[in-house]
Amino acid sequence: MAINGTPRVGLVGWRGMVGSVLMDRMTDEGDFALIEPVFFSTSNAGGSAPLGDQPLADAYDLAALKACDIVLSCQGGDYTTQVHAKLRGEGWDGHWIDAASTLRMKDDALIVLDPVNRPQIDDAMAAGNRNWVGGNCTVSCMLMGVGALFKAGLVEWMSTQTYQAASGGGAKHMRELLTQFGTLNAEVKPLLDDPKSAILEIDRQILARQKAMLDGAESEQFGAVLGGSLIPWIDADLGNGVSKEEWKGMAETNKILGRGPDALGGSDERAIPVDGFCVRIGAMRCHSQALTFKLKGDVPVGEIEALIEEDNPWSKVVPNEKEATMRDLTPVAVTGTMNIPVGRIRKLAMGPEYVGAFTVGDQLLWGAAEPLRRMLRILIEG
Ligand code: HSE
Repeated sequence: MAINGTPRVGLVGWRGMVGSVLMDRMTDEGDFALIEPVFFSTSNAGGSAPLGDQPLADAYDLAALKACDIVLSCQGGDYTTQVHAKLRGEGWDGHWIDAASTLRMKDDALIVLDPVNRPQIDDAMAAGNRNWVGGNCTVSCMLMGVGALFKAGLVEWMSTQTYQAASGGGAKHMRELLTQFGTLNAEVKPLLDDPKSAILEIDRQILARQKAMLDGAESEQFGAVLGGSLIPWIDADLGNGVSKEEWKGMAETNKILGRGPDALGGSDERAIPVDGFCVRIGAMRCHSQALTFKLKGDVPVGEIEALIEEDNPWSKVVPNEKEATMRDLTPVAVTGTMNIPVGRIRKLAMGPEYVGAFTVGDQLLWGAAEPLRRMLRILIEG
């Protein structure tokens, strides 16, 4: 479908957490001036839209969706499953931009992260691709930080140990984490207020309360206690000892880089092994990752830092020193910003080709909303 004039862009799931971050970014970047937005709703068709004087359209109304040049969905995987194939089945050849993982590994979908894979996006556009999907948040944040090393062909393999925020589970998970923290604090407040109380008594009471949380609604979202603890499993159990989140690390990294059999159109270039453990921790919305690289040679740290710093406007090297690390390389420092700091860069004891790094990214920005917003811009600007 050639877009003539101002593109009509259907927005679905704009009220949820990722959708709200997307709306804010689109407002900040002046995107609404370039489109005719049509706001859809799965539950409140006919209600008031956040912009303009048109009421909310029904997100299951295929005719209304088909009238759009572009549909951008943050509604989630169930919606995509219900609607996307039907729309295509009816011959709609508009652009579908999606935050959900449903279509990511499909042969006719590209995972979009334009600062990393703009060449693939351009090739796919020229080839008539119509499905554009945001990547897994951990993968997108990681590649925004250290994609330069992959682009330069330096990486033999990479292992990643993640420290993933509550927001990756959803808004209810963030609330549950904070409620758990509050409950635990309240449990020992009198003892905490008394500087002479015994810390092991506080610890005992906290543990008893954490164990009591396991039985009911207090840990319903995560299925385990996260407040004062961690959960070393994210997403589905693939039955082979690997979590789905861990599987995505290698599958999506290579698809984004256009390598291996899953790349759009397939690629003869070997998929780079990426593996490690994905862990949920008590951060709010920044995913952090400790990375181990085996490089193809002994590349000096200064060269690695220069590649990362120059790769894109958002990747920033944090000097591998205590003060800078504690100031700039934490979820608290990064939340709400577009920065992707990469620090702790150093050679590891295993040998000169082994390099460690640590990176942090806001999983709602580069991990979710921003790649979609930028893809919309790329389509609009042709
Ligand atoms: N799967 C990610 C997480 C969320 O649970 O943190 C976004 O891709």
